[in-house]
Amino acid sequence: MTEQKRYRVGILFGGKSGEHEVSFCSASSVIKAINPGKYEAVPIAITKQGYWLSPQNSHHALLTGKVEGEEIMGWKSKTDEHQFFIINKKNNEINYSFLEKLDVIFPVLHGPFGEDGTIQGLLELINIPYVGSGVAASSLSMDKELMKKVFQQAGLPLTKWLMFKRKRWVTEPKEIIREVEKKLCYPLFVKPTNLGSSVGVSKVKKSNELSAAIDMAALYDRKILIEEGVEDNIEVECSVLGNDEPLVSVVGEIKPAGPYYDYNSKYLDDNTQLIIPARIPDRVAKEIQEISRLAFLAIDAAGLARVDFLVQQKGNSYHIFLNEINTIPGFTEVSMYPKLWEKSGVGFSELIDKLILLALERYQDKLSNKIDYPSKLLEK
Ligand SMILES: Nc1ncnc2c1ncn2[C@@H]1O[C@H](COP(=O)(O)OP(=O)(O)O)[C@@H](O)[C@H]1O
Ligand SMILES: [Mg+2]
Repeated sequence: MTEQKRYRVGILFGGKSGEHEVSFCSASSVIKAINPGKYEAVPIAITKQGYWLSPQNSHHALLTGKVEGEEIMGWKSKTDEHQFFIINKKNNEINYSFLEKLDVIFPVLHGPFGEDGTIQGLLELINIPYVGSGVAASSLSMDKELMKKVFQQAGLPLTKWLMFKRKRWVTEPKEIIREVEKKLCYPLFVKPTNLGSSVGVSKVKKSNELSAAIDMAALYDRKILIEEGVEDNIEVECSVLGNDEPLVSVVGEIKPAGPYYDYNSKYLDDNTQLIIPARIPDRVAKEIQEISRLAFLAIDAAGLARVDFLVQQKGNSYHIFLNEINTIPGFTEVSMYPKLWEKSGVGFSELIDKLILLALERYQDKLSNKIDYPSKLLEK
């Protein structure tokens, strides 16, 4: 019997993002759990400066946390084939060596330059299958304003919100404050439009705190988003897996250590709890699952996504607000995304396996597109 070919899976991690370190944890978990009988994990670390390290240096980076090395990954692109190569710089001499072909890439990168469509665009150009959403869905899910517009179009429930540009904040701060207070009620949440991990997010309870919160969000982004706060909320999340006919997991609950799920509650305070299943009635959980499925389809996501909600409970009535979708959610064994699948009957290794197969399926589907058009334009 011939031995089945092991797929070589490039695990991309690190990256030019505030979530660089979180990505290291996710990548280590994936490499540990990937089925070695079926897959060969090839680590590729991206430094904070944006350099790609060779698998050898990337492996070293995972063990030591030191992201450094002489070798840099590069690529050559043809329409039907990709090739990664390693550049060795020694004593002003540059040598190239080719990396054994990779079959698929698993980007375990969170935040800007990883989850936002930029890496996905590069992988499209290289023409290699990759896990997760394509360019458009990735970009939409990183831009909270565009994401909300798409969700609104799909009729999904959101809190009231508005967006303005940093440039206008500099020239017309009084007008902006007036507009915000006319349209929205306190407490408010002020956010940079394109970030994650709650960086730059503030809760504003009263008027005299608003200006400072906007100044802070404006440090991180040229677009500032303000939304009405959902008071007395239960924060719940649902995992989605699939391509065009996605499946949804059980719903889980986050009980943040702080007053809301800020950076500290996410990564530093051990008192934050994940409660699975969420303590909400079945009918509410079902509705959340359906909205998660629709949110995934609305942005045309692929592979995986975690959909986050704020649920306001008033007696027996529950009001659901869709907060956001994350196309590359935290992916350590203790992260919500895989935990929800584990409780839904899909273990961590099996989940990785399914995601890789979904990536290959999506790539095959793309290959079936006709790409040539008999144009006579250049024949003149
Ligand atoms: N409208 C809101 N009402 C109540 N809490 C909110 C609201 N928006 C955000 N939060 C809180 O702030 C956290 C971070 O906001 P979020 O929009 O999810 O940003 P990020 O993309 O950084 O995770 C949420 O998990 C939640 O705890
Ligand atoms: Mg969030």
